[in-house]
Amino acid sequence: MSGRKRLLFLGVCMLLTACQGPQNEEQKTSVRIGISLYRGDDTFINNIRSVLEEKAKEYERENGIRVTLDIQDAKGSQNTQNNQVERFIALGCDVLCINPVDRMDASVIIDKAMTAGVPVVFFNRQPVEEDMNRWDQLYYVGVDAKETAVLQGQMVVELYQEHPSAVDLNGDGVVSYVLLEGESSHQDSLIRTEWSIQTLKDGGVPIEKITGGIANWERSQASALMEQWLAAYPDTIELVVSNNDDMALGAIDALDRAGVTGVNVVGIDGTTPGMEALENGKLLGTVSANKEIYASAVMGLAVSCAMREPIPEEYPLTDGTYYWTPQEILIRQINTK
Ligand code: GAL
Repeated sequence: MSGRKRLLFLGVCMLLTACQGPQNEEQKTSVRIGISLYRGDDTFINNIRSVLEEKAKEYERENGIRVTLDIQDAKGSQNTQNNQVERFIALGCDVLCINPVDRMDASVIIDKAMTAGVPVVFFNRQPVEEDMNRWDQLYYVGVDAKETAVLQGQMVVELYQEHPSAVDLNGDGVVSYVLLEGESSHQDSLIRTEWSIQTLKDGGVPIEKITGGIANWERSQASALMEQWLAAYPDTIELVVSNNDDMALGAIDALDRAGVTGVNVVGIDGTTPGMEALENGKLLGTVSANKEIYASAVMGLAVSCAMREPIPEEYPLTDGTYYWTPQEILIRQINTK
C-alpha cells in the first residue's frame, strides 16, 4: 500500500470507529450517574436523595443494568459544584443530575457538559430559560411553584369557609399572618409567596400581614425570626404562611418555646419531619410533591439519556425539556369544637 493509500485507509477506519458510538451505547450493561446536591443538609433535598438511591436499585433489579451513583454535596458553593462536574466527566459519567447551587449561573456546568457530550438532568433549582435552551440534552425536573402556592392557599381558604373561627382565632374579622420566605434567588420563593397570598385574598380570607422575613429555607433562621415576632407582636399572630416545611417547623419551635398554642402554621414539601408535625397536630398542613414520582422522573430521564434511549412516555415533557411532578395537599384533621 502506498503512503497516501495507507493514510486514506487509516482515515476511513477512524471514521468507522467514530460512527460505532451508538452501537456500543446500545450494548451498555452499566451506567454511571454523577449527582451533585446544592446542600446535602437540606431536608427536602435529603428526602429526594434517599428516594433517588432506592429508584436506582429498583431500576437495576428490573432491567439488569448496573447503575452506579456518585453523589456529591456542593455545600452551597458553585465553585465546588463546578469542580465536581469536571470530576464526574473525567470519571466517565454517562449523565449528570445537578441540583444547582446558583440557578442563575448554570452556564459553566452546561459548557463542560456540552463539550464532553454528557447530558444533564437539572432538578429542584431551575436554571434560567436562556441556559436551558442552549442544548437539547438538558432537562429539568421540579414542581410548578404557582401550583404549589395555590394549593397552600386553598388549604386555608377551605378551612376558613367551613370554620371561620378555626382561622380567625380572636374573631375580630381579620386573619393576622406572618410570612416566612425561602432564598430570595430561588424561583420558588417569590412565586410561592405571591400566589399563596393571592389565593387567600381571592378565596375571601380577610388577611392582614403583620410582618415577614427571609429565612433561607432553614429551621433555625425561621425559629429566630418567629421568636422576635412573637415578642414584638404578642397575642396577634393567627397564621404562619411558610414557603417550606423546615421554616414552618422553626416557627413551631418558637411557638412551643413561648408556650403559644392554637396558631395555624402551613408549610410546603411534605418532608419526613413535616409529616411528623402534621401527625402530632403541630402543623396545619403542607403541600407535598410526590417524591416517588419526582425521583423516578430524575432517574428515568437520566438513565434514558445514559442509554441513548428516548425519554419514556410516562414522563411527558413540557417544551421537550421540563417535567413537572404532581403534588397534593396534606392537611391534619380539624377539631372545631
Ligand atoms: C424548595 C424546597 C425547599 C428547599 C429548596 C432547595 O423547592 O421547598 O425546602 O429544599 O427547594 O432548593
